[in-house]
Amino acid sequence: MTSQFTPRVFSGIKPSGGLTLGNYLGAIKRFVGMQGQMETVYCVVDMHAITVWQDPAELKTATREVAAGYIAAGLDPTKSILFNQSQVSAHAELGWIFNCVARVGWMNRMTQFKDKAGSNAEKVSLGLYAYPSLMAADILLYHATHVPVGEDQKQHVELTRDIAAKFNHDFKADFFPITDPVIDGPATRVMNLRDGTKKMSKSGESDMERINMLDDADKIAKKFKKAKTDPEPLPETYEGLKDRPEARNLVEIYAALNDMTPEAVIAEYPGAGWGTFKPALADLAVAKLAPMSDEMRRLMDDPAEIDRTLMAGADRARAIAQPILEKTYDIVGLLRG
Ligand code: AMP
Ligand code: TRP
Repeated sequence: MTSQFTPRVFSGIKPSGGLTLGNYLGAIKRFVGMQGQMETVYCVVDMHAITVWQDPAELKTATREVAAGYIAAGLDPTKSILFNQSQVSAHAELGWIFNCVARVGWMNRMTQFKDKAGSNAEKVSLGLYAYPSLMAADILLYHATHVPVGEDQKQHVELTRDIAAKFNHDFKADFFPITDPVIDGPATRVMNLRDGTKKMSKSGESDMERINMLDDADKIAKKFKKAKTDPEPLPETYEGLKDRPEARNLVEIYAALNDMTPEAVIAEYPGAGWGTFKPALADLAVAKLAPMSDEMRRLMDDPAEIDRTLMAGADRARAIAQPILEKTYDIVGLLRG
């Protein structure tokens, strides 16, 4: 069904806290890889960030930091459309339409909401609950056919497909594409360096459990050298990592950083002890990440330039989004003058 639509990529990252290695390997690095293959639209999703409390001044800084992370990692704002969501009001407008398409029962099945709300479900914002319908709007506002994301976002992209299908069915219009999630490569779920059963996230308790994209060379090396492992050396085959979450995570990070498969990493270090593998991983990570964190800091020194880039990107985004929103209003029967 997507065939009638021009291939187009859309993805986004929330400006809530700093960027992590999970964001880099699970999202940004893959965004950069898709640039040039088809039209690419990348967003700093600030309207998603405010579904939980954000300090207003810090939100602006975090928005610039995500933009700087994108650019430092190789995203070229002349090749991709790069902007922050709130500058294109059509996201919120289409989000409302989709609130009227999505069913409460669908939202109740969203595992991320359950995880985030926990036992506090009565007190979280209504926005946090409606969040997946705004995400569907982000994607479908551009008729995006491909959405690169980490594993944790799979269910939200599936919901986006359900919303598109229900809209098309209810209004008898083959208008929205059925978007494909793109979840590939060795690092679609980068784990916490202190507990290999938990996802690396911006908001974990200890800074030692994650690599931040703004960490300098010393910090990156130290965190990898102190990462939790089990006592066994690396196995002789990849299958040997099966029930060893910490070891597998470090091998997968190595693979993703060095553009190789985890199997090839094991073939390079069969039976290696941690005294060999950890320093090799630390060196590789510093070589790949430290120049990027330096570049991010350089970009952040000129916030006005980042703001100009985001504003120019928003103009280009609006040019695609506005006609799709107008057509949606028309299909729904909303009268326009
Ligand atoms: P967020 O920081 O939640 O806005 O996530 C932005 C993107 O980064 C999404 O595509 C996530 O799936 C991806 N991402 C975040 N954390 C990780 C992780 N630990 N491993 C892989 N991908 C991740
Ligand atoms: N929900 C995503 C996350 O938490 C961020 C996001 C918002 C997104 N809108 C999107 C990702 C559209 C892909 C496409 O990671």
